[in-house]
Parts: sequence; C-alpha cells; structure tokens
Amino acid sequence: MSRFTMTNSPQPQDSPVGAPLAQATAGNVLGGSGAMFDGIAKRYDLLNRVMTFGIDQRWRRRAIGLLQLPPNAQVLDLATGTADLAIRTAMNHPDAHVTALDPSRGMLAVAQAKVTAAALDGRVSLVIGDAQHLPFADATFDGVTMGFGIRNVPDRLAALREMRRVVRPGGRIVILEATEPPPSLLSWGALVHLRVVVPRLGALLSGAPAEYRYLQKSIAGFPTPLAFADLMRQAGHDVVAVIPLLLGVSHLWVARVPQPLESAR
Ligand SMILES: C[S@@+](CC[C@H](N)C(=O)[O-])C[C@H]1O[C@@H](n2cnc3c(N)ncnc32)[C@H](O)[C@@H]1O
Repeated sequence: MSRFTMTNSPQPQDSPVGAPLAQATAGNVLGGSGAMFDGIAKRYDLLNRVMTFGIDQRWRRRAIGLLQLPPNAQVLDLATGTADLAIRTAMNHPDAHVTALDPSRGMLAVAQAKVTAAALDGRVSLVIGDAQHLPFADATFDGVTMGFGIRNVPDRLAALREMRRVVRPGGRIVILEATEPPPSLLSWGALVHLRVVVPRLGALLSGAPAEYRYLQKSIAGFPTPLAFADLMRQAGHDVVAVIPLLLGVSHLWVARVPQPLESAR
C-alpha cells in the first residue's frame, strides 16, 4: 500500500494510488517514465541546482505567478518529482491546496520528506499517477502546473487533453520545459552546456549515465516552442503566452481553459 495519501485533496476517481504503474518498468525506462527517475531521485535537486546555476527555482516562481490563482485555489502539479513547484505554490499561496502527482515512488519519497520538513502535509497531497490518465473529475482544479515533465510523457496530446479536462473553465495551465535554444552566437554556449556538459556532469554526479543521456536527447527531440503551442491548441487550450527563458534554454507556455460558449464559437 502506498504511503502517499490524499488528505484534504480532491478525491481521485478509480484511484491509482498504491497500484503498480503499467508504464514504470525497466523495459521502457528510456521512453520516459517514473522508473527512470527512481534511480536519480536522491540527487535530483542537487543536480538541478548545479546544472542550471540555481536559475530553475526562479523559473518555477515565475510559473506560479503566471497561474493567477484565485483565493482558496485547488492546484494540480503534474510530474511533481521532488515537489519543488508544489511546495513553492503552497508557500506563495497560504490558502491554496496543491495536489502533486508523479509516477515515480522514488521522487515522491523525496517529495514527502520535503513537504513534511516544510510543515505542508495538510496542504500538499502527493499522489502516484500518470499525466495521461488523471484520476480526477472534470473541472476539479483552478490551475495546473507542470515543470520539466511534459517532455517525459509518451502521449503528450493525451496529457494536454487531461489538463484541459480537470481545470475549470477560465482556469490556467502553465507548463515549464527545457528546450534547445535557437542557433545564434549568444546561445552557442547554452547549446554546448546542454549537449556536452549536462550529460557528462549528470552522469558523474548521479552515477546514472543513461538517464542523463536520455535527458539531453529528450530535450533535443522536443517540439519547437511554437509547435508545442499548436499541440496545446489541438488539445483545446487557449494559449495566451509562450515565453522564452534565458535565450530559449527553457520556455513557459501559459494557457486558459475556454468557457463553454467560447469553445462552441
Ligand atoms: C525532470 S522531473 C521534473 C520534476 C519537477 N516537476 C521539477 O520541476 O523539478 C520529471 C518528472 O516527470 C515524471 N514523469 C515521467 N513520466 C510521467 C507521466 N507519464 N506522467 C506524469 N509524470 C511523469 C518523472 O517521474 C519525474 O519525476
């Protein structure tokens, strides 16, 4: 039985909590799944800080601001990993409740320790699950975030459709993801960092070379920012902004769930 609970959070339908996840097998690790992240969970935060020089935390704070949450918001953080985004959201919005979902038990174990250390057990609930099949009723949340997670999801369109389904009309979806910067003299250093430094440094510090090679390849294989915005529109999102960060090494996509009458037009 899982130790991750659903206290005070929207109750999942057909809850997968505690159930073994079909995707999380060694065989499809490099296709992107929770299993891959189990192996690097304990060092994930350290590696993030070292490889982005700490800028990743600034980007998460910006993502939370773009959510424009109402009072007493219900927030869903997908691919929560070690829960940096979920914890920061709960801290910035003391009246909000955050449901933080991820398929990796290893990442969620680290997240649970951090949530408890921050005295946020009552307001951040960890759930084992898959972004492609969310165990929540329609229009449950005021906003959804997903930080550095959509790249790992095999069927991104399905995940985007699920985000739209579980957010109430007028609510926002903010996605933060690493991207390859467009070629330019200035971005050349960033590209070398991403293609050469990240896989090597990641392998060295984590002892998991395959995982950090996957990281670099998955960034290179991610659609361009505008192509990803088109995929969001295909899923029914009203895309309001696509924001490049630091010469395009990451992007923020901000979308709104249209009101029923708007989508009918
Ligand atoms: C790079 S980490 C990002 C963690 C965190 N959001 C952050 O900002 O650091 C990617 C996360 O995606 C999760 N993941 C992989 N496949 C997923 C899926 N199908 N649905 C939801 N999360 C998934 C992994 O378990 C991992 O924790």
